Amino acid sequence: MTVVLAIETSCDETAVAIVRDGIEVLANVVSSQVEIHAPFGGVVPEVASRAHLEMLEPVLARALTDASMTGADVDVVAATHGPGLIGALLIGVSEAKALALAWNVPYVGVNHMEGHLFATFLERPDLEPPLVVLLVSGGHTLIIHLEALGQYRILGSTIDDAAGEAFDKVARYLGLGYPGGPRIDQLAKEGDRDAIVFPRGMLNEGLDFSFSGMKTSVINYVRKHRDANNADLAAGFQEAVVDVLVSKAMRAAEQTQAKGVCLGGGVAANSRLRERFVQEAEVRGLQCLIPDRSFCTDNAAMIAAAAHWRLGEDGPTGLDSGAYPGLGLPVMERWARPSD
Ligand code: KG4
Ligand code: ZN
Repeated sequence: MTVVLAIETSCDETAVAIVRDGIEVLANVVSSQVEIHAPFGGVVPEVASRAHLEMLEPVLARALTDASMTGADVDVVAATHGPGLIGALLIGVSEAKALALAWNVPYVGVNHMEGHLFATFLERPDLEPPLVVLLVSGGHTLIIHLEALGQYRILGSTIDDAAGEAFDKVARYLGLGYPGGPRIDQLAKEGDRDAIVFPRGMLNEGLDFSFSGMKTSVINYVRKHRDANNADLAAGFQEAVVDVLVSKAMRAAEQTQAKGVCLGGGVAANSRLRERFVQEAEVRGLQCLIPDRSFCTDNAAMIAAAAHWRLGEDGPTGLDSGAYPGLGLPVMERWARPSD
């Protein structure tokens, strides 16, 4: 049995989790900085670092209490070492390395996006590859072909904004505040998703995405229709984004003859995306897995799950390693695409 204590501080959540054998979540504590950044309309890196510094010790203490453990029960300490904000990452990485030294256990640096991928396996370790995973967060929009654990091919990615970024920008334009994704999700429930039909960027062009034009079409619409209803705008925009995300993920599964489809990343918390993803997978007879919302948005349980697997695969990470803001997913060569 291996108990991993993982720390996640890549952006604006200070999180610590304790997970046994990569699947059994004993503690999962997340302290969000949303209220601290809200007055600025987005994450302020320096403010984020300071808040991580203040919150990490209490969050760590709480996780150990929740798991009824002390440092002596921990076998491995892990931290997200990229991608993310450099100052924020360094706080989690430094703490994890210090704990690993103090407790005399291995340290594992984890790729945040690989963590999002492992969120699916936390709940369903029995899932059988090959799988197609749609990873949608504030910084990434990826369709990944998972041939086996650790073997990833990127089938599609965004050529401009990430899906979460588009949600956040449209929300800001509509004056809905920050973070935009959950606000649009909420407001869309009161709107008519067919009232305003926005263009579906690159819907029939391969597996890459483009959200920037969709965002601009909302802005142009509002300029022409000053009295447009915000709930209808939110519902129409969300429908367009979800349509593109789900269509491409399903097309990718068909083209690669995947056995199942998974969803991950913060945008995977979106109600309409979750609903449509399940419906479309069912129609095609595909296994479908969407993690609980708490494992979609940033958390440290997914980092612990990825660390557990990486330790077995690559061994511990050296204590002389750093934090890597631009770290990419360790992918195999890009898929030679079948014609779309
Ligand atoms: O994965 P995540 O928590 O952080 C990153 O790694 O980026 O994703 C954050 C993104 C934000 O853009 C946020 O607006 C979006 O996920 N998000 C949502 C929802 N909840 C979070 N987008 C749409 N609907 C939601 N319910
Ligand atoms: Zn994330």
